Amino acid sequence: MPNPPATNAIQIRHATADDVEMIFQLLQPYVEAQILLKRDRDDIFQHLQEFLVAERQQQLIGAVCTHIYSKHLAEIRSLAVASSAQQCGVGRELVAACEAQMRILGIEQLFALTYVTDFFLRQGYRIVSKESLPHKIWTVCVHCPHFSNCDEVAVEKAL
Ligand SMILES: CC(C)(COP(=O)(O)OP(=O)(O)OC[C@H]1O[C@@H](n2cnc3c(N)ncnc32)[C@H](O)[C@@H]1OP(=O)(O)O)[C@@H](O)C(=O)NCCC(=O)NCCS
Repeated sequence: MPNPPATNAIQIRHATADDVEMIFQLLQPYVEAQILLKRDRDDIFQHLQEFLVAERQQQLIGAVCTHIYSKHLAEIRSLAVASSAQQCGVGRELVAACEAQMRILGIEQLFALTYVTDFFLRQGYRIVSKESLPHKIWTVCVHCPHFSNCDEVAVEKAL
């Protein structure tokens, strides 16, 4: 007998203006927990083309943003999966979608600053020293409460 349609299938797609409020709501608990950098609605709108979202049964359950610095380097930012949807492969699919998107654009490396190092190591990233990253990546970090004492780990993957 053929398999029934996968009603729980995860769809990854580009974000639209209609997603901004849900992206904001998704990020907010992690911003408040100081795991993710603060992003207000205007900031999400201004970077909307950088965002991918994950949907399951018409519900937005994850988001991620990729910011390009140069041909050599782009950053994974604002990666978040709703607590109710974690450990189901959504984060992995979002990261894989960012990588595919960056490969198409000819970007050579992706990096992230993160507290979930093991999650990234499982996706083939390696730990690198923060000093190896170009200075321009720190411009958004001045808004981070941990800026003067950054305890995130830098991870990087060649695409
Ligand atoms: C980190 C996060 C995005 C992971 O999303 P997720 O959908 O739960 O992860 P997945 O189910 O795709 O997990 C993929 C793999 O990583 C592992 N993993 C998931 N979260 C992990 C964590 N916090 N630490 C270590 N490993 C983790 C899973 O067990 C799975 O392992 P497997 O390949 O052996 O099966 C999610 O927990 C989250 O939104 N956290 C809060 C925000 C955050 O920390 N974002 C990262 C900012 S850089």
